[in-house]
Amino acid sequence: LLADSLFIINNYAREYFTDTLFNSEEGQNIGLSYFEERGFTEETIKKFQLGYCLNTFNSFSQSALDKGYNLEYLQKTGLVTIRNDQPADNYRGRVIFPIHNQSGKILGFGARILGKSDRAPKYINSPENDIYVKSRVLYGTYFARHSIDKLNECLLVEGYTDVISLHQAGVENVVASSGTSLTQDQLRLIKKYTNNLTILYDGDSAGVKAALRGLDMAIEEGLNVKLVLLPDKEDPDSYVQKIGANAFREFIQENKKDFVLFKLQISMQEAGSDSTKKSQLVNEIAETISKIDKTEDFTRQQDYIRQCSQLLHIDEQGLIQLVNKFIR
Ligand code: UTP
Ligand code: MN
Ligand code: MN
Ligand code: MN
Ligand code: MN
Repeated sequence: LLADSLFIINNYAREYFTDTLFNSEEGQNIGLSYFEERGFTEETIKKFQLGYCLNTFNSFSQSALDKGYNLEYLQKTGLVTIRNDQPADNYRGRVIFPIHNQSGKILGFGARILGKSDRAPKYINSPENDIYVKSRVLYGTYFARHSIDKLNECLLVEGYTDVISLHQAGVENVVASSGTSLTQDQLRLIKKYTNNLTILYDGDSAGVKAALRGLDMAIEEGLNVKLVLLPDKEDPDSYVQKIGANAFREFIQENKKDFVLFKLQISMQEAGSDSTKKSQLVNEIAETISKIDKTEDFTRQQDYIRQCSQLLHIDEQGLIQLVNKFIR
């Protein structure tokens, strides 16, 4: 089966890249030093099975072909590409982040460039194939699932390194959307473990805007969504390394906001005294509230109606009627 073959190749590649990281001179001097500079311990590097791809034309490709792996399948994984009519390593000179499924098998890879480059993308991710479907993947679920279950809460961050640094700080109930806006499949995956989702996005507004777009969908899936805004220019990785594990945990507890109320507050700021915009936002918030499944959580919808009508200085009965218009 194609899927099985891709898993086998990815597993081979994962072993090859960790071996390169720890046992080759270039791997140690460049890859391992990079991870160490970022504050990752050896234990963390081994747990997440991080690796390094040599900066050569085809070391990996040649080794995989010598092993007898099929070139067409190697290309499907994205590990090998054809350059000047030759099989070539796609991730050369990059550090490697394997992406595990819920049972620990390797779906694909994220490969990060070292340092900065204007020409090449910072991360190259596996192409879509029979096992790597971007919209269904949440990085870190394999390592987070027990903790999410135990704490009955899932933290959502943007990137690979955010997941890894938080684990190292002892915060293990965390997964990453890997830079994309949340999809329904990803939300359903979270819902398998918990109803409580806390989004911890980078301090820049792009992340929050993306999260706002997914809010109605998350509510429709029955998730209770909270948001923590990090200080400007920080992401969970940089911030936890800066302030330490305990202070980070406190920061999360103290800055957790209900996402529906947060959305209302930003819309109110945007609308100002513009009455057209104001009635539009009342409609939008009513629609959001209407998505809460009453059979699952009746008081939650009532609580939102009460709190939002107070914030908006509008009549509670009026908001109830508006909410009901969206329910059919
Ligand atoms: P960020 O740019 O915030 O990267 O993108 P990061 O995770 O903080 O990485 P470092 O700290 O610079 O190493 C967040 C996520 O978006 C995806 C990756 O999954 C990344 O972790 N991304 C970003 C890409 O897929 N490609 C890119 O070129 C950039
Ligand atoms: Mn459970
Ligand atoms: Mn960002
Ligand atoms: Mn970062
Ligand atoms: Mn980031």
